[in-house]
Amino acid sequence: MSDLDRNIVERAYARWAPIYDAVCGPVMVQGRRAAAQAARAVGGRILEVGVGTGLSFDDYDASTEITGIDLCEPMLAKARTKIASGRYPYVKDVLLMDAHAMSFADATFDCVVAQFVITLVADPEQVLSQCRRVVKPGGKIVLVNHLYSERGAAAAIERWAAKRTRNLGLRPEFPFARLVSWAQADRGARLIERRKIAPFGVYTLVCFERIGEGALAA
Ligand SMILES: C[S@@+](CC[C@H](N)C(=O)[O-])C[C@H]1O[C@@H](n2cnc3c(N)ncnc32)[C@H](O)[C@@H]1O
Repeated sequence: MSDLDRNIVERAYARWAPIYDAVCGPVMVQGRRAAAQAARAVGGRILEVGVGTGLSFDDYDASTEITGIDLCEPMLAKARTKIASGRYPYVKDVLLMDAHAMSFADATFDCVVAQFVITLVADPEQVLSQCRRVVKPGGKIVLVNHLYSERGAAAAIERWAAKRTRNLGLRPEFPFARLVSWAQADRGARLIERRKIAPFGVYTLVCFERIGEGALAA
């Protein structure tokens, strides 16, 4: 049993949905843009895991084809309203789907992006393995999140907030080391980038590359 299960997360984001764009739009914009920029550099078919209300749609262009998934219907309803405006012809679809069990075929996407998602799913390692499965060999998995500060006052606050924010669907004490351990255990992806996002360095962008079958056998 995880500290954050599917029901807690689904209920939390159903409550967030009406106010999400106003509250989380401006404060997370730099992280969102950095992740979308990294995904655009790959181009082609891009999967947005935990697409939410579709705040990232503005950060893509016609060089990409975006598919989004999310497990929270009220968040997706907001994304569908944005699609219906006609401003995002490069957004192919948004689907109600749990990232722990994606129904896409192996190697469907050129890039998988998860913006402010991996730290709050029930089983981050399982979701990462699903991301690796659905991305093509040589493709990228781009994550952006606030990660655990590890030391100092910020780390103490995050530890204090940990249990108190579970019902909001948050896990503020999620360490970078957990992502590294996943890649080492999975062996199907390698870490290629870790960088703090300017101007404040609150968010970290982490990028993995899927290793091809040939490289794994070697
Ligand atoms: C903090 S919001 C981020 C939304 C969007 N990526 C953004 O940057 O604004 C997290 C989103 O992940 C979704 N989510 C959480 N767990 C999920 C899962 N297992 N499968 C799919 N989506 C999930 C939530 O419903 C929510 O919409």
